[in-house]
Amino acid sequence: MNEKKPYYITTPIYYPSGKLHIGHAYCTVATDAMARYKRLQGHEVMFLTGTDEHGQKIEDKAREAGVTPQQFVDNIVAAPGGVLDLWKLMNISYDRFIRTTDDYHVAAIQKIFKAMYDKGDIYKGSYKGKYCKPCESFWTESQLVDGKCPDCGREVMDAEEEAYFFRASKYAGRVRELLLNTDFLEPRSRVNEMVNNFIDCEGGLQDLCVSRTSFTWGVPVDFDPGHVVYVWLDALFNYMTALGYQNDKYDEVEKFWPADVHFVGKEIVRFHAIYWPAFLMSMDLPLPKKVYGHGWLNFNGDKMSKSKGNVVDPYLLSERYGVDALRFFVLRTFPFGSDGNFTNELLIQTINTDLANDLGNLVSRTTAMAEKYFGGRLPEARQADPALDEPLTALVTSLRGRYEEQMEKFQFQNALEEIFKVIQRANKYIDENAPWALAKDMEANGSRLAAVLYNLLEAVRVCAVLLTPFMPESCGKIFDQIGAEEPARTWESAAKWGVLPAAAAVSKGENLFPRIDAEKELAELERIQEEAQKTALPELETEPLNPENVDFDTFCKSDFRAVKVKHCENVKKSEKLLRFTLDDGTGTDRQILSGIAKWYKPEDLIGKTLVAIVNLPPRKMMGLDSCGMLISAVHTEKGEEKLNLLMVDDAIPAGAKLC
Ligand code: MSP
Repeated sequence: MNEKKPYYITTPIYYPSGKLHIGHAYCTVATDAMARYKRLQGHEVMFLTGTDEHGQKIEDKAREAGVTPQQFVDNIVAAPGGVLDLWKLMNISYDRFIRTTDDYHVAAIQKIFKAMYDKGDIYKGSYKGKYCKPCESFWTESQLVDGKCPDCGREVMDAEEEAYFFRASKYAGRVRELLLNTDFLEPRSRVNEMVNNFIDCEGGLQDLCVSRTSFTWGVPVDFDPGHVVYVWLDALFNYMTALGYQNDKYDEVEKFWPADVHFVGKEIVRFHAIYWPAFLMSMDLPLPKKVYGHGWLNFNGDKMSKSKGNVVDPYLLSERYGVDALRFFVLRTFPFGSDGNFTNELLIQTINTDLANDLGNLVSRTTAMAEKYFGGRLPEARQADPALDEPLTALVTSLRGRYEEQMEKFQFQNALEEIFKVIQRANKYIDENAPWALAKDMEANGSRLAAVLYNLLEAVRVCAVLLTPFMPESCGKIFDQIGAEEPARTWESAAKWGVLPAAAAVSKGENLFPRIDAEKELAELERIQEEAQKTALPELETEPLNPENVDFDTFCKSDFRAVKVKHCENVKKSEKLLRFTLDDGTGTDRQILSGIAKWYKPEDLIGKTLVAIVNLPPRKMMGLDSCGMLISAVHTEKGEEKLNLLMVDDAIPAGAKLC
């Protein structure tokens, strides 16, 4: 047996840069279910989570908020609605919480950086390349996708600065072996992507820039002031410093390292599957046993993002349906290794079908009948009927094995599916045995009825033991309702039949999973989410400034002129285009087409003085020539795109050059 064998599992440590959403909670709930499952099996578990608090993004956000970076992160970590609060709400049973601003971690990172430097694995050079600020990632030209950040698709900027580099190239061969020839990275489908894109690519695995000088919010390189350690080196080592590596705060490296598994989202697999093992190789440390790259939760088919205002709020949903229902939903519905599409319909349907209809009904019917027919205490005399009972008992006693097989592969969805097959079978068993019919003649059928109800209680008990990692609170209530004391709640007991004492006190308690009126609830959710979207969206948003310079001569070539609108009309069959006839001062009318029909009525523009760039090559649109472009100002307000044509004083004559 696994008695007390240490088991070490981690989540990524979160950027405390804003409110966490259900996507963030997904990984942590999965890790929690896994940690609880391992504890149930008897392991001594270390479940680590925390926050990754350094980096330019945090420094920038703190500046915008007018506070120090430390105040900024403190607030997001510890404030109501912050990270700690969310984990408390979601019933996350972490054993340790690390913050990368913790002193012991900072000092340890400095030692690690120095050790790698002394070894020659970190060297000083000059960084020239592309940088994605939101992702805090450096990229080479060849790694960009359509010139944009390959991770998030946003604009990157040129960056050049003196920097330290980690000799990742030195470890490329070993990392490649690790990925291709072991089960280090799962799901297996992620392996080729890593090897092809980052190791077997043109130029091979590049050395990694591991220090920055353009901002200060990071772990200082103590032997070279001005440099701070790159956030990913700082962050990845949290998995070891939190056990006491290179510090005296803890002393559990021996016990828990190497980690059994790091759960990480797919977009950060690169750091965990390539650089993390390379860093550890450099420090001559054992490698974690596994990195599991889970998929993303999208919402209504779209990536959840604060700027789109479509993030799903775990607080709101837990309040309405209970934390357990939410925890259950995300792990029951989506295969952990792939992306999942979160919709309100699916959430409510799952709660109604699995929790209210199947599980809830089974528990409430069973306990209600035990109460009604036997006052909550079944008699000792129970009459078996093997033909009717064995299909159920066989399925229940073999459940733990099937469940374990799936849990060991992190296939939560399948593990739950196995449990629900048993729950459905037990509901069918009620119908097959029709206890209400047996109850009509208690003298003749009383002991058969007792057997039927006992079997149902046992089925419920075993399912509840195995559901505990997913829905700890609800399962506790189920145990109370069926009278299952501690010995009947254990892992061992889940593979046994007949553990509940015959006279266990059964009581029909509260309805654990009330059925939801789907239509009403969906409308309500939509209303709330729209409302929240409006308030979440920034009042006003403008495009970030373009970091790339344009040289002065090129700029001067653009010919901007004041133009007067002589005529304006909608273009037939086009919802977007307006056709302008303009006086540009040359004496010949100029025609420009502009996609602004959404914002302007043609008659409102006649006589106005606008600004156009007039030396663009003519373009055909809907069969018409457009000779130039009208200049407008664009921004976003509460998520809605706004456009204002640039209008100038009517005293400015048509054709006046703008310079
Ligand atoms: N700070 C890094 C991790 C460092 S680990 C040494 C980081 N933080 S994060 O806050 O941006 O993301 C934390 C985790 O949340 C990541 O694993 C990420 O994949 C996950 N998710 C964020 N949005 C998600 C979804 N919509 N769906 C599922 N997981 C997603 O990355």
